[in-house]
Amino acid sequence: MKLWAGRFSKEVDKKTNDFNSSIATDSRMYAQDINGSIAHVTMLAAQGIISADDGAAIAAELAKIKEEIADGTIIIDPNAEDIHTFVEQTLTERLGDVGKRLHTGRSRNDQVALDVRLYLRDECDETLKLIKELINSLEKKGEENAHAIMPGYTHLQRAQPITFKAHLSAYVEMLKRDLGRVEDAKRRMNSSPLGSGALAGTTYPIDRAMTASLLGFDSFTKSTLDGVADRDFCVELASALSLVMVHLSRMCEEIILWCSWEFKFVELDDAFSTGSSIMPQKKNPDIAELVRGKSGRVFGDLMTLLTVLKGLPLAYNKDMQEDKDAIFDAFDTVKICLTTLVPMIDTMKVIPENMRKAAAGGFINATDCADFLVSKGLPFRDAYKATGELVALCIKTGKTLETLEISEYKNICELFDEGVYEAINLENCVKRRGM
Ligand code: ARG
Repeated sequence: MKLWAGRFSKEVDKKTNDFNSSIATDSRMYAQDINGSIAHVTMLAAQGIISADDGAAIAAELAKIKEEIADGTIIIDPNAEDIHTFVEQTLTERLGDVGKRLHTGRSRNDQVALDVRLYLRDECDETLKLIKELINSLEKKGEENAHAIMPGYTHLQRAQPITFKAHLSAYVEMLKRDLGRVEDAKRRMNSSPLGSGALAGTTYPIDRAMTASLLGFDSFTKSTLDGVADRDFCVELASALSLVMVHLSRMCEEIILWCSWEFKFVELDDAFSTGSSIMPQKKNPDIAELVRGKSGRVFGDLMTLLTVLKGLPLAYNKDMQEDKDAIFDAFDTVKICLTTLVPMIDTMKVIPENMRKAAAGGFINATDCADFLVSKGLPFRDAYKATGELVALCIKTGKTLETLEISEYKNICELFDEGVYEAINLENCVKRRGM
């Protein structure tokens, strides 16, 4: 029997029922739904809208239902229209007329807007924790390799020497901004829509501040229409999560490169790599590749949310039911990626010798060589040109800046002296830049 059966003379068509139902997605919000209902019913009783006895009985039964869903005593009916309906029907089956008083002064429209906010608030907390764990892993890996010198790249060409720690620090900064973005979106979301009703509030003397405070909100939404129609927070969060995925994907791309025999800067632990069905020698960085690939899902979720919302008139429309699949998937994806990446980074073996070898080629100290001439008084453009000629000479003779004779230096610019070898020493280059 549907909640709204009174107006209808027929049962809903079976396929239509499946199409209309959101239970497969929203049943995961059962705890938030029940917590919201307990706050609502507590307020109804406090305001004298229902009796104190009814309020207490409903709240106690809801708490019981929550426990029974958690421990599997109650199996959520897959044919129910949504989690709100299922909980209310279960309550009414148990309490009869008393249970029917729960939905006084409330609509599923403000109820679902509330549940999603409560659910996503918890998702934000879990995600923030995981991002912090990844930051810690990267900082630790960096600290352990604070003196490992590697080539820094631009255009994927060896550019200037850096430390592995400096390289990882860039990702730490990205992830710290991600923390800020998620926290920011969470703060803006933390306003209770409860009391908005279907769209126009309610005529009962409800206390919106009370339910907001019982549920840990900073405020309640000012416009009741906006309260049920707003899903900006889903978009903001999906956008913040998309950037998290951009960062994870860039990092994974580098790890994939570093695992190749062409680089071999790192080796992933066997527990976080996979083999090939045909090539016995293979050890593949599948996890990093999957994270890179899964970024597409999250960007897609963001696009879904923007598209679902863009043409909607006020206030609630059923289109909005599509919000949950998208934003839940975005959180699920980011969380599983972070959960897998943390131990992968923790166990990743760094091979500083290979980094150092790569840094020794490609004339990555050429800028420092030019800077040496500048320290001798030469204008930078002239120093740049002289160093360019030195690099050309090295390429012709198969030498490096380190192995050129001082006479060869002086042939190109007489301002050179023995001090140049100190100046182009990679350790010194890195130290001078505070890397
Ligand atoms: N399942 C719905 C959703 O997720 C709940 C709200 C239903 N409201 C309604 N008026 N049909 O959006």
